[in-house]
Amino acid sequence: AECREHSSNIVLVGMMATGKSTVAVLLAEELGYELVDVDQVIVRKEGRSIAEIFAQSGEAYFRKVESQCLAEVLQADKQIISTGGGAVLAPANTRLMLEQGVVIALTATAEEIIARVSGDQNRPLLAGNAEERVRGIMEERREAYRFAHCTVDTTGLNTAEVLQHIL
Ligand code: S3P
Repeated sequence: AECREHSSNIVLVGMMATGKSTVAVLLAEELGYELVDVDQVIVRKEGRSIAEIFAQSGEAYFRKVESQCLAEVLQADKQIISTGGGAVLAPANTRLMLEQGVVIALTATAEEIIARVSGDQNRPLLAGNAEERVRGIMEERREAYRFAHCTVDTTGLNTAEVLQHIL
């Protein structure tokens, strides 16, 4: 990836449970960058959980707030930014990410993601049949994650190994 001056953010994108937030912590420590989790920014701004935002205001509202928060975050520099899995769905978001940072997509097999999210209550999009939902969402978004500067397959890797691949 090309690293232009003034664009020294690292933006992590990818499906739910590919380990974006976890490896972001290690990356921030390693590089001395500020750690920013866009989902956390949304929760703080809204004063309610992601599940509550979806249940009370719907997905379209969530996406609007997500885009606003992402744009605000991307105004600053030297940050490790982990995004929610659906942050790539709006073209305006991906354009801004590519302009303001190095974008790294994390992937994993459907089997691995299903295992990682089993029992998770905080991901409204997986309510009901999580296995079927994960497979459907992965299929829908396969193309959407291709815009990243580079991609790391995390299947079978621990967090330290994912960190090394990214570095
Ligand atoms: C979503 C992913 C979640 C969160 C919300 C929607 C998605 O973030 O933003 O539940 O559409 O994939 P994680 O990728 O951190 O689970």
